[in-house]
Amino acid sequence: MSHPIIADLNKRYTVKKYDSSKRISAADMDVVKQAIRLTASSINSQPWKFIVLETDAAKQRFHQTFANMHQFNQPHATEASHVILFAHNPKFTKDDYRKVVDVEVSSGHLPADMYDNMLNGAFGFAEQNTDDNGFNGHWTKAQTYIAIGNTLHTLARLGIASTSMEGVDPSLIGEIFKEELDGYVCEFALAMGYHKEGEDYNFGLPKSRLPEQDIITVL
Ligand SMILES: Cc1cc2nc3c(=O)[nH]c(=O)nc-3n(C[C@H](O)[C@H](O)[C@H](O)COP(=O)(O)O)c2cc1C
Repeated sequence: MSHPIIADLNKRYTVKKYDSSKRISAADMDVVKQAIRLTASSINSQPWKFIVLETDAAKQRFHQTFANMHQFNQPHATEASHVILFAHNPKFTKDDYRKVVDVEVSSGHLPADMYDNMLNGAFGFAEQNTDDNGFNGHWTKAQTYIAIGNTLHTLARLGIASTSMEGVDPSLIGEIFKEELDGYVCEFALAMGYHKEGEDYNFGLPKSRLPEQDIITVL
């Protein structure tokens, strides 16, 4: 298939070795940030924070978080051009949702007289996913995965390579980025940049996916 979307998605791949001399332009980073912000989420909850690491000092802090585990991902911390920490709110409350509904109205998306309707009605989706301790991190983390998917597609369009990383240490990230996370939890991150010529064993390999008929049923 020759559709440009399919060409983008065939071209993108997971980088295993970055060229640390290559930087993503500020203009491209602006596109990435805008795309992340536009990510869809259930009830428009947006229960996330994205911490963009672009200075050497910030990337060095991320490098330290690999002290105990997943060292195979550690080189990306300093060799990639940028890293984004994807963080979710483990206890998304009705007060958090109030901020969303405020913007629904101020943006002109929702008529003001529908405010209570949305706040009390739609929040039921969050409540359904909340336990007795107020924890709904499974649900908010699921929303945050949509953002990484959206980012992967955006990067593919921009011709920027990346490495999704569940191989991170949420506990050390929680300590070392405590202030920025402000109670949110980071359980996956995305390194971004350009591959190192001749040293990235994943570059140029054919895509490996299950057959369409195994995963898609059209009725
Ligand atoms: C949520 C998520 C977490 C991943 N974690 C890692 C990781 O920690 N390290 C790594 O090298 N690749 C990681 N990957 C990359 C996958 O192995 C890769 O996307 C998959 O094999 C498909 O290959 P492709 O991305 O090259 O098309 C992750 C991918 C996703 C989507």
